[in-house]
Amino acid sequence: MASTIQQPGESKTRSLLSLYKAVRARTMQIVAPLETEDYVIQTAEFMSPPRWHIGHTSWFFETLLQAHQPGYRVYSEEYLFYFNSYYEGFGARIERPKRGTRSRPTVKDTVAYRNHIDEQMLSFLESVENKPELETVLSLVRLGLEHEMQHQELLVYDIKHLLCDQYDAPIKPAPAPAAKVEGMAEIEGGLFLLGYEPRGSSPTVKEGFTGVNCDFAFDNEKPAHQVFLQDYALDRAPVSNGDFLEFIRDRGYQNFRWWFSEGWEVVNREEWRAPLYWELHDGQWMIRDFAGLHPVEDKANEPVCHVSFFEASAFAKWAGKRLPTEAEWEKAAAFDPKARQQRAFPWGDEPPDESKANLFENGIWAPAPLGAFPAGQNVYGCQQMIGDVWEWTTSDYVPYPGFKSEFDEYNDKWFVNQKVLRGGSFATPQVHIRSTYRNFFHAHERWMTSGFRCAKDI
Ligand SMILES: [Fe+2]
Repeated sequence: MASTIQQPGESKTRSLLSLYKAVRARTMQIVAPLETEDYVIQTAEFMSPPRWHIGHTSWFFETLLQAHQPGYRVYSEEYLFYFNSYYEGFGARIERPKRGTRSRPTVKDTVAYRNHIDEQMLSFLESVENKPELETVLSLVRLGLEHEMQHQELLVYDIKHLLCDQYDAPIKPAPAPAAKVEGMAEIEGGLFLLGYEPRGSSPTVKEGFTGVNCDFAFDNEKPAHQVFLQDYALDRAPVSNGDFLEFIRDRGYQNFRWWFSEGWEVVNREEWRAPLYWELHDGQWMIRDFAGLHPVEDKANEPVCHVSFFEASAFAKWAGKRLPTEAEWEKAAAFDPKARQQRAFPWGDEPPDESKANLFENGIWAPAPLGAFPAGQNVYGCQQMIGDVWEWTTSDYVPYPGFKSEFDEYNDKWFVNQKVLRGGSFATPQVHIRSTYRNFFHAHERWMTSGFRCAKDI
């Protein structure tokens, strides 16, 4: 995977071109083990057939070509309809639950469409330097690549739902834990600058806060703004399968006392008794993942995954704790109290590598044991904040004060009824994550790689 960090002497366009090639190639690497039949099936309303993802990510770039490449001719009106996701501004589209009801465009035709868009985009990028709207176009290309990386992660969720251990994932072993990660870190409150501001730009606020050293952020991470935090404590490790099994054995799913009313309704309606992908075999809970079926005991020391906000909140209440707010999570993940400086990651400003966080490039295809990435810890000894599992926060997904939309219908139209998750997962590409990144899902959703850690007032 190419780095986004620009090499000396390399133009912004050149580095974007190499990122384009690397990102587009990785999408096809993810789907490479699939058989043709696998590409077209939709196993649930919330997932999309893999064929749709490879076409939709190309459609996104086709909208850019339509707007900025003079004389560009649309490849197919039918594809504009089938591969649009939710963009009202780009016309009519197939309803999401019906993406798996068609066998056309075929997989072969979709790949041909994808190749056509790549040819067009590469020649467009070769000539873009002379365009007056260069900056706008480059930021749209970058958005298209960030969008594609989001879909790479969705592909992992969807392929897991479709095939799970029948998918031939190129799995590498997880590192062994270096040491036990225990207890809660106590973190001082006070004013904190929440959100993204590039390092070196004129400070929005305030002496001592220097901005984040990272070259891209979505509009929903901006602007950086002051919030006030009380002192708090945060778990040094994510909640594990072993911890969660105790909640189950204590009849946590049978006790209304731990649940929000809406959550309790879902538990009863869907007959939830455990996280998604947990199966009960002869009285023993097992977890199915890309590598097969395992007794929970064998994975007791790994972060729990595929839990909803409702389940995370119920566990936290049962444990006498609560979920952190996103500001509490971000302060722990980004703030260095000695230097009074925000960093792009818990360990500092260097981009993630395989020694610091379990992200897509590690190739583990599952959460790694607690304590497996001591090099990625923050100044308070909290580990695995980046990678492994997205972590639920108690914060509603709403615009930050002063928010300005940078792209219609991308982030701004989702600012209602969803919860924020932080930190990325084993399915997130390295260049796609940072401490200020805000992901969001509905409180009942759990097909994504979602886990959590708890917080407490002190
Ligand atoms: Fe999309």
